[in-house]
Amino acid sequence: MCGIIGYLGNKKALEILLDGLEKLEYRGYDSCGLVIFNSSQNYYLQKTVGSTKALREKIKSLFEGNWGIAHTRWATHGGVTDFNAHPHYDCRQEIFVVHNGIIENFKEIKQRLLEKGHKFSSETDTEVFAHLVEDYLKLEKSLEEAVKKAIKEIEGTFAFLVVSKNEPEKIIGIKKSSPLILGVGKNEFLLASDPTPISFLTKNVVYLDDYDMVILKKDGFQIFSLKENKYKKPKINSIDWEIKTEQNNIFEHYMLKEIFEEAKAFGETIKDKIQEKKVIFEELNGLKIERINKIILTGCGTAYYACLYGKYLFEDYLEKETRAEIASELRYENYSYDKKTLFICISQSGETIDTLEALKIAKEKGAITVGIINVPGSSMTRIVDYLILTKAGPELAVASTKAFISQLSILYLLAFYFAKNKNPDYLYEFLSLKNKIEEMLAKKEEIESLAKNLIDFKNFYYLGRKYEYPIALEGALKLKEIAYVHAEGYPAGEMKHGPIALIDKDFPTIVLAPQDSLFEKSISNLEEIKARKGKVVLISDSEKDFEVYSQIKIPQTKEEFYPFLITPLIHLFAYFFAKHLKREIDRPRNLAKSVTVE
Ligand code: M6R
Repeated sequence: MCGIIGYLGNKKALEILLDGLEKLEYRGYDSCGLVIFNSSQNYYLQKTVGSTKALREKIKSLFEGNWGIAHTRWATHGGVTDFNAHPHYDCRQEIFVVHNGIIENFKEIKQRLLEKGHKFSSETDTEVFAHLVEDYLKLEKSLEEAVKKAIKEIEGTFAFLVVSKNEPEKIIGIKKSSPLILGVGKNEFLLASDPTPISFLTKNVVYLDDYDMVILKKDGFQIFSLKENKYKKPKINSIDWEIKTEQNNIFEHYMLKEIFEEAKAFGETIKDKIQEKKVIFEELNGLKIERINKIILTGCGTAYYACLYGKYLFEDYLEKETRAEIASELRYENYSYDKKTLFICISQSGETIDTLEALKIAKEKGAITVGIINVPGSSMTRIVDYLILTKAGPELAVASTKAFISQLSILYLLAFYFAKNKNPDYLYEFLSLKNKIEEMLAKKEEIESLAKNLIDFKNFYYLGRKYEYPIALEGALKLKEIAYVHAEGYPAGEMKHGPIALIDKDFPTIVLAPQDSLFEKSISNLEEIKARKGKVVLISDSEKDFEVYSQIKIPQTKEEFYPFLITPLIHLFAYFFAKHLKREIDRPRNLAKSVTVE
């Protein structure tokens, strides 16, 4: 959450920072700002509530500086106002700071600084850092020395960029638990929260580790590790990641475009992994399942639902105790890891703070760690022992769609890969899913008219059993996050333990009931809802007419493959529901794509 970017080079910083902010906006978009300097130590500061578009409109000056820092915000401390937008500055407007993360002890620091006479102009946690650096600069000879001292007082998570009007052509960057990447171009440098804005200028990047401090100057950079208390030799990596942000003429929203890429994402993710009736995972480097006595899968939101799917799958295919846990809970649990525990984290961004922290704990305690991650070079990719990249490609809409299908497909292949007794014919059926997903996407009109017909309802249940349960959760989450409509996903059998009390003619239920081993039981639950005058939308491959409000037909497949067919339908349903309610689909209120604060 929050995106930060800094530029130092020969080009005009204003355009580079504004373009960069646009590319980082998916991280948070309630307000933004920048500060740019020129060689005469003049600066231009502008901030505003709203997105980069609002900032562009507010910028009347054509200020020609060639270094500066910028920020796009997802508010944590302090409301969404111009004053609370970053950059923040010290008492004399000489030191400027942008920040991604949370300073947990900011209240104590602020109180102390107030007593010393500092004047604050925002309600944010970030501003204390500018004033702390101001204080230390009275004692230290350079900005980097002052930052080094100030950072020791900060508790919490951070990626900071700091500049001083009095130390021209210098940017200091420092991080802990929030991402920060250095782009190394020809006579120019960028520091940013992720590779997206960097990849347009250079493919050479340095991934910074926690407590690395970059001292960026016109003629080069140095990295000082505060952990090791010495300068480090930087490792330059090449990135293969470019987001095309050109106007999308075919689809009205990125979310719809990405739903329509679900079949492709599936195909790309599994490419080269199935060869002659065998599953190949070079990434696992011969890792043997015999070494493992229990498996734990973790992630947040949609990625957690993929974990839940993986749990059912692993339990069916492998004889191993398997758990799926929400990462924000797992990280505070006393789970017992050892070197026979296989820890699998799933994440589109590879930056979600709770998943990242859960991963660090598992690794520290000796578990074997595997990451199923979409963004190459992201923080998690650099920590896991074994990395499996999903190949969904950049996902720009806040709602995760094609990444989810890719995660499910890797989980299936992993289960198959590790299983002892397996029928190679299953792989034929698995491969046929790509066409079946396309077939589901072709139901666009049918789903749109269903969404339109149900548009006045304010509450929905999504029910599923076993493999369909995570998909019920996913359907409900999507409706909540982009349509702002109350929806809950439940295991169908749980209804009579309470939730069924809410059922009446105004509370529709979407029942996910393919003809699997639990079909009859799901149909009993459906009848119970009908008996209470509840409207039912049934998604099933059954030919039988269940006399429900609407019945959506899917093709037959194996039990564990139905989620691949139902997912595109529930994604389309949420999309059209939100569209007809005229919601901000790609940037829903209060959310951000990458959740890097707790
Ligand atoms: O980047 P991650 O996959 O780690 O993100 C996890 C969740 O924040 C994410 O799936 C979130 O729930 C989405 N908004 C769901 O559409």
